[in-house]
Amino acid sequence: MSEKSANAMWGGRFSAGPDAIMEAINASIGYDKRLAPQDIAGSRAHAAMLAASGILTEEDAAAIDKGLTQVLAEIEAGDFAFSAALEDIHMNVEARLREIIGPAAGRLHTARSRNDQVAVDFRMWVRDQCDVAISGLDALMRAFLAQAEAGADWVMPGFTHLQTAQPVTWGHHMLAYVEMFARDKSRFIGARARMNECPLGAAALAGTSFPIDRHMTARALGFDRPTANSLDSVSDRDFALEYLSTASICAMHLSRFAEELVIWSSAQFRFVRMSDRFSTGSSIMPQKRNPDAAELLRAKLGRIMGATVALFTIMKGLPLTYSKDMQEDKEQVFDAADTLALGLAAMEGMVSDLTANRPALEAAAASGFSTATDLADWLVRELNLPFRDAHHVTGSLVKLAEDKGCDLPDLSLAEMQKVHGEITDAVYSVLGVHNSVASRTSHGGTAPDNVRAQIARWKEVLG
Ligand code: ARG
Repeated sequence: MSEKSANAMWGGRFSAGPDAIMEAINASIGYDKRLAPQDIAGSRAHAAMLAASGILTEEDAAAIDKGLTQVLAEIEAGDFAFSAALEDIHMNVEARLREIIGPAAGRLHTARSRNDQVAVDFRMWVRDQCDVAISGLDALMRAFLAQAEAGADWVMPGFTHLQTAQPVTWGHHMLAYVEMFARDKSRFIGARARMNECPLGAAALAGTSFPIDRHMTARALGFDRPTANSLDSVSDRDFALEYLSTASICAMHLSRFAEELVIWSSAQFRFVRMSDRFSTGSSIMPQKRNPDAAELLRAKLGRIMGATVALFTIMKGLPLTYSKDMQEDKEQVFDAADTLALGLAAMEGMVSDLTANRPALEAAAASGFSTATDLADWLVRELNLPFRDAHHVTGSLVKLAEDKGCDLPDLSLAEMQKVHGEITDAVYSVLGVHNSVASRTSHGGTAPDNVRAQIARWKEVLG
């Protein structure tokens, strides 16, 4: 079609074609061609339903189905000439169908509109991406679980404010992420279930006077049921927003661990060593091993949050029902989904390949007076001090150790007794980091026994 002629699909009342700039701003084919498989699946289901409902002859339906199969094959083979003049994937497919089967192609659009067509295509695409995220999360959780199992009882410092707080176990830290990613997974499952209603058949916005069977198309396309309100069907994009919001939370979790990897792999921490496969060198400083994958992941995940804000901004001022603004929904979601899939895979690779430096973790766990709380608890338990007094006594002991430049277990009993006369040498048993973590057996606590029980539970859940 020449640029000057009116659009073959809707140009009946137009005498001239669009300005080149109009075409550029109007066309979405550059990106919505990714919806081709969904678009063709939707059209095939629609044609079959039209025939079953007596709206289309079996002959026309068969020709349409065969033609659409060919169009999909051409697109998959890279043999399809996408045209910006035809705006979007829907009209590109239909125009090619007409070339292949002739005028019968024009009957496919009976009882539907591009408004319900794009809604069903996009829903199916986002639904698939929920499944992609769910399986990516499963793989990632298994990688964290393997790390937890390898080091269920290894001690490391637990931090608050990035200051040493109390000793914890490596396994416990790894399982913290399993919990987060399991919640992300359940959010994707919930979002998928909520979006699994079929908008096809809402037509432009009001429904149609043709005797269509929306239950049939819903079933054919794997939906639980048709949507109940035609206006909502063509104007709702909250399925995409829910996907993006869920992806943003997941991205935030990924980014927090990426940040920990960057800190932990530094020469100052040396808690972990990232594999060669996920590190890079410096072109000038030969000693460097840079955690580029973790850094890039931390940065890239901002795109997902950006896409979420962008789509909220696109949608928030739109009156019902469809507005062309909504065409701008897709690029955001496509980019976010690509970024999330890459991020999940990169993190899974990094975690699987990660080597924890057990001696460095243990040495760090023992420094920074990390067992001060254990000491205070001992004073409460054994000497019956009120916790506030115990806190005060412990603070004096920490100050003493700090002044001497040693750790708590290095103080002599005589030195401790100067601070509180009733302290006995039984206190030393709680000053070691292994005893400290072993004593944290409260529900959800860091004790290795707890960690092992949680590992067993997660193994059952993840299969
Ligand atoms: N390309 C359009 C979109 O993505 C399809 C729907 C067009 N509908 C319309 N009334 N112009 O939103």
